[in-house]
Amino acid sequence: MTLSHDGASRTSNNELISWVDEIAKMCTPDTIVWCDGSKAEYDRLAAELVEAGVYIKLNEEKRPNSYLARSHPSDVARVENRTFMCHEKEADAGPTNNWMAPAQMKAEMRKSYEGCMKGRTMYVIPFSMGPIGSPIAQIGIEITDSAYVVTNQHIMTRVSQKVLDTLGDGEFIKCLHSVGAPLEPGQEDVPWPCEAQIDDKYITHFPETREIWSYGSGYGGNALLGKKCLALRIASNMAREEGWLAEHMLILGLKNPAGEDTYIAAAFPSACGKTNLAMVLPPEGLKDWKTFTVGDDIAWIKPHTDGTLRAINPEYGFFGVAPGTSYDSNPMAMESMKENCIFTNVALTDDGDVWWEDIDGPVPDHLIDWKGDDWTPDSDKPAAHPNSRFTAPAGQCPSIDPRWEDPEGVPISAFLFGGRLSKTFPLVYESFDWDHGVFQACTMGSEATAAAIGVSGIRRDPFAMLPFIGYNMGDYWQHWLDMGQNREKQGLKNPKIFRVNWFRKDDNGKFMWPGFGQNMRVLEWVVDRINGKVGASESPFGLVPSYEDFNWNGLDFAPEQFMQLTEISRDAGLAEVADLKVYFEQFGDHLPADIEAQRVAMGERLENSVAIWRTKDAA
Ligand code: GTP
Ligand code: SPV
Ligand code: MN
Repeated sequence: MTLSHDGASRTSNNELISWVDEIAKMCTPDTIVWCDGSKAEYDRLAAELVEAGVYIKLNEEKRPNSYLARSHPSDVARVENRTFMCHEKEADAGPTNNWMAPAQMKAEMRKSYEGCMKGRTMYVIPFSMGPIGSPIAQIGIEITDSAYVVTNQHIMTRVSQKVLDTLGDGEFIKCLHSVGAPLEPGQEDVPWPCEAQIDDKYITHFPETREIWSYGSGYGGNALLGKKCLALRIASNMAREEGWLAEHMLILGLKNPAGEDTYIAAAFPSACGKTNLAMVLPPEGLKDWKTFTVGDDIAWIKPHTDGTLRAINPEYGFFGVAPGTSYDSNPMAMESMKENCIFTNVALTDDGDVWWEDIDGPVPDHLIDWKGDDWTPDSDKPAAHPNSRFTAPAGQCPSIDPRWEDPEGVPISAFLFGGRLSKTFPLVYESFDWDHGVFQACTMGSEATAAAIGVSGIRRDPFAMLPFIGYNMGDYWQHWLDMGQNREKQGLKNPKIFRVNWFRKDDNGKFMWPGFGQNMRVLEWVVDRINGKVGASESPFGLVPSYEDFNWNGLDFAPEQFMQLTEISRDAGLAEVADLKVYFEQFGDHLPADIEAQRVAMGERLENSVAIWRTKDAA
């Protein structure tokens, strides 16, 4: 028996309608609702969620039109060990991805999907990543049994009937999601239904057929399928085939005192400061600069007919980490979430507002924590979950770039790559050329907190894409090499590539660099390097600024401190080169020869270097 729904009145796309029927047959929901992205729909679903105890409506005066959700304590983050790239061939998934043959995975998952929406509503969400109808946009249809997902998708993507109109009979990316919690007749629902068994959660991608199947989790990138699943894992496959880049990058515009615009894109691993840098404001002493936010998490970068590489932010909102966000650390994020937001797993104040660790002001005497329990300052647990998030409309960010929805994208002049590295890596350095820059990105990482990985204890996260690359990591590196090398052959100028590290620590374990707004000083040097206005000295790692190459107006930072922050130890550098040799082995013949050649060259430069390289030595 087929469940009736009004799909035929919404679209003429037979492929879409029969897919909806097919999924309904498998998942057996009670009803099917086609979403239109309207405010009325949002308000209706939010009211239902409040009624069901899923959403808490926040104080209308303090946080207008905003809600708080508390997830199940087992469902608080992406599940990387249950994320699969199901290419037909295992080698195409590569050594860094989980793999299973598509037919086998589908057979296994069908067992879970069978009847999984019983007692629930199945929503059909037409969404666009990128401005609706623009040539760079991609249309996805998400089927989900979670109204929490629908309301979040309203903010994070462009949901509208216009998406279906634009789609017509064309192709779309099939995104299937279920929380995996059927309701028997009379069974009472819980505030956050999900599959509690971790081994029964699946975040699965079928790149050859451009499908996403997600089961068992309702949280973040596991459930908002336009984000990591579509815009990175599936899109990276499209990008490779079509000659563009789908990256885990923020996009930032910088206007110098002369009024010239420069755009940069920067890749840092999850929770390493993309949202902060995307919304950075010039600090005291650099107030004649202006900054503009284009995106804080994902960039699609394509060659433009004018010879530039153009970036767009395919998202429509921010899904940002709440703890640590304050008017002090990120005022633009705070302004973005003043209203019309959804908060997940933050704490609730007694007057119906939100709270998290390191937000502005004194710590309240009493809160309800993210699990719904009473909390006081002497509690030994955090009030907000460390991965608690705000979902905020990007258009509400005061620093949003006037061009952020320009379908042509913004021209990128530099790529920045960085991780959390307390030792060895200088604050900033520029790569010698494109291939050397790609090598910087391939080898980036963050320090492993628990069991040390490799000699240097670094958890490698190439391009900040380790959890997001949709195919063989080695082939992805080759794709980056090819992109730049082909442009060079055509006589086109490539963006410069920089490595940055805000996280170097001194012998007492203290951060050596103030970071946050002060990172603008690094960006000023980057822009001046692009425009050829400032110097750098040649180190074994790359081109490093000297103290006098930086603008210190408004910041008291001694030359000796800067020297320490940028020094390079030969032994530590050689340990890194040795560690990379071991790391590269897993890629076998997918490791690009140019990348191995870069490693060898780095070793040679270090062998010929002084024991401790400092900028003054280079003069
Ligand atoms: P995802 O949304 O998970 O992709 O993460 P993100 O890269 O956007 O991370 P986010 O901006 O939320 O990272 C926040 C973390 O980075 C917090 O712990 C901040 O304190 C820290 N952080 C950001 N910028 C700086 C900085 O310049 N210096 C230091 N020391 N910490 C920083
Ligand atoms: C990340 O983990 O990099 C995020 C959050 O941006 S999520 O959308 O959950 O993937
Ligand atoms: Mn991210």
